[in-house]
Amino acid sequence: MKPSKRLDRIPPYLFAEIDRKIDEAKAKGADIISLGIGDPDTATFPNIVEKMHREIDDASNHNYPPYQGTKDFRQACVNWMKNRFGVELDPDKETVALIGSKEGIAHVFFGYVDPGDYTLVPDPAYPVYANATYLAGGEPYFMPVGPENNYLPDLGKIPGEVARKAKIMFLNYPNNPTGAVANLDYFKEVLEFAKKYDILICHDQAYCEMTYDGYVAPSFLQIEGARDYCIEFFSHSKTYNMTGWRIAWAAGGEKVLTPLKTIKSNIDSGAFKAVQKAGIAALETPQEKITELNEIYRSRRNIMIEGLRELGWDVGSPKATFYLWLPVPKGLNSAELAEIMLERAGIVVPPGNGYGPNGEGFFRIALTVDENKLREVVERMKKAGIHFNMASGAVY
Ligand SMILES: Cc1ncc(COP(=O)(O)O)c(C=O)c1O
Repeated sequence: MKPSKRLDRIPPYLFAEIDRKIDEAKAKGADIISLGIGDPDTATFPNIVEKMHREIDDASNHNYPPYQGTKDFRQACVNWMKNRFGVELDPDKETVALIGSKEGIAHVFFGYVDPGDYTLVPDPAYPVYANATYLAGGEPYFMPVGPENNYLPDLGKIPGEVARKAKIMFLNYPNNPTGAVANLDYFKEVLEFAKKYDILICHDQAYCEMTYDGYVAPSFLQIEGARDYCIEFFSHSKTYNMTGWRIAWAAGGEKVLTPLKTIKSNIDSGAFKAVQKAGIAALETPQEKITELNEIYRSRRNIMIEGLRELGWDVGSPKATFYLWLPVPKGLNSAELAEIMLERAGIVVPPGNGYGPNGEGFFRIALTVDENKLREVVERMKKAGIHFNMASGAVY
């Protein structure tokens, strides 16, 4: 049977491919350290797990949830937005619960993109933005980001004819895979661009709470009038160690959010009500707990950066996310570096080109293993002769 044409342009999902390589290496007896997927390695906070234990026994949670999410979940999201960003939202009209933010991010394209429409997607970026564009029949226009533009798309370089045919621009700060951040002045420029070309800004906030050294990430919705042009996607996954629970939410003006709600109500039937209750407990987690978790990542970041500096990588410390985005040694491409790391050192890292063509020449490290493992990573790299200045055909 022939699969649909819309699948023709979808590359194998980056992490499915990485998992396959890990399985292969493990089958050969290799002792693998994976710095691959951004999946927290510590447990969901106890206040959340305890809430879930109680709610799962309550039969009133066992039937279909409301499509938009339960009223109390949406109210908790709105309260959190007010406390965290000073943004006031209507819980009935301006929020919707999601089954993980990936679900909402993928579905929003079906609410806006017709065949032939453009989407504006940073390159490199979380792969779902481009792939969901393809699935919806659209065409991603890749906006290159790199050290030369502080990883902020240069709006002036987007051709007018592309902007006029574009429906969505996706942004994500703090950023996966680069760890870059953006400020409100940049968001204001983006909002003006969105108004000029009538484009929906989707801002992925998966990492807005994973910040260090006093940095506080802003919300696009803090800008006056932004809600008429912007949907923000918030996720419980990384902030509260809830990747497996599949709970998240989107916020934006009623008009811009409605197409997403319509798509969702025709495709899914919402997140388990007990999980939404646990999600409320998550949003009420004392800030100290989040600060403690960030302290773990900050310390790991420092250990890894120090180790990398010994290996010749002169890189700065990201202010946010648990990712390090590193240039590959000269003479190698991203895939070759990833292959060498796996074969010679038993370390899994995603090659930068898995995040878009402009990610070539980089690789990503996720700080999702403990400090001892990170020290071991550095030792293994040293032993395997993997360092920044290794020339092509180097001693590995
Ligand atoms: C930038 C970004 N957005 C969204 C997600 C999806 O998160 P979830 O579906 O678990 O909410 C991820 C996960 O890695 C991510 O890195």
